[in-house]
Amino acid sequence: MAQAVAITQQDRFGQTSRRDAWWASPAAVVIGLVAFVIYTTWAALQGANYRYDGYLSPFYSPELWGSPQAWFGATRPWWYPSWLVFTPALFILWIPAGFRLTCYYNRGAYYKAFWADPPACAVGEPRQSYWGENYFPLLLQNIHRYFMYLAVLLVLALLTDVWHAFWFTDASGHEHFGIGVGTLVIALDVFLVGGYTFGCHSLRHLCGGRLNQPSLCPLQSKLYSCSSMLNRRHMAWFWCSLAWVGFSDLYVRLCAMGVISDWRIVF
Ligand code: FES
Repeated sequence: MAQAVAITQQDRFGQTSRRDAWWASPAAVVIGLVAFVIYTTWAALQGANYRYDGYLSPFYSPELWGSPQAWFGATRPWWYPSWLVFTPALFILWIPAGFRLTCYYNRGAYYKAFWADPPACAVGEPRQSYWGENYFPLLLQNIHRYFMYLAVLLVLALLTDVWHAFWFTDASGHEHFGIGVGTLVIALDVFLVGGYTFGCHSLRHLCGGRLNQPSLCPLQSKLYSCSSMLNRRHMAWFWCSLAWVGFSDLYVRLCAMGVISDWRIVF
């Protein structure tokens, strides 16, 4: 039979009455986020092997400058600092990075995991005072709602990548419709990133959460319900989309480098 554990004020850092593996969740967050940041930084700085046929790595999407297929061409823009490595990912990655860094779920996760503030519920903290997010620099977390607008635009850009992932160039240079494993990888990436983005707390508030009587506005009420449905599993959407966006880049990269072949399902 499950035993109730009395939750009391904890005096020392790490002190707790909990008997479960309370440290496992923050440890997993540290490992997951550190691994993702290391891989993403490396992949973003490569500036190469991010396209393969109709596939584009989500780290580089939309590609604004950097190759002939980019929106504004291959030439480095005149205002780009000469001392900074030129890679198309740097024009884009600050948006999902800022969006995820300020995400309400992620804030709770990395405050616990990296700052031990607190390490877990009912576990002693390293400090006694709590400043919350009312002061600089954590006050900047409120910028999340603005990143949300940009993140929604990025999802639309990723949708165009799914369309391009259905088109392949044959030996004679002609484009034809097809479906490869990479098509499915990129489509699933947009599905997961969309599920994460559209379940955002800020977007949910924008859709209908700010209304006193959402039922009086049927459209907003519907949007609010859809966003709420996704929001219920926001943590799962966060981790699944994070892992899959990294895998999608890796898949395109390995194809472009010739390490693996893209298996065609429909030619
Ligand atoms: S709260 Fe997590 S993405 Fe907005």
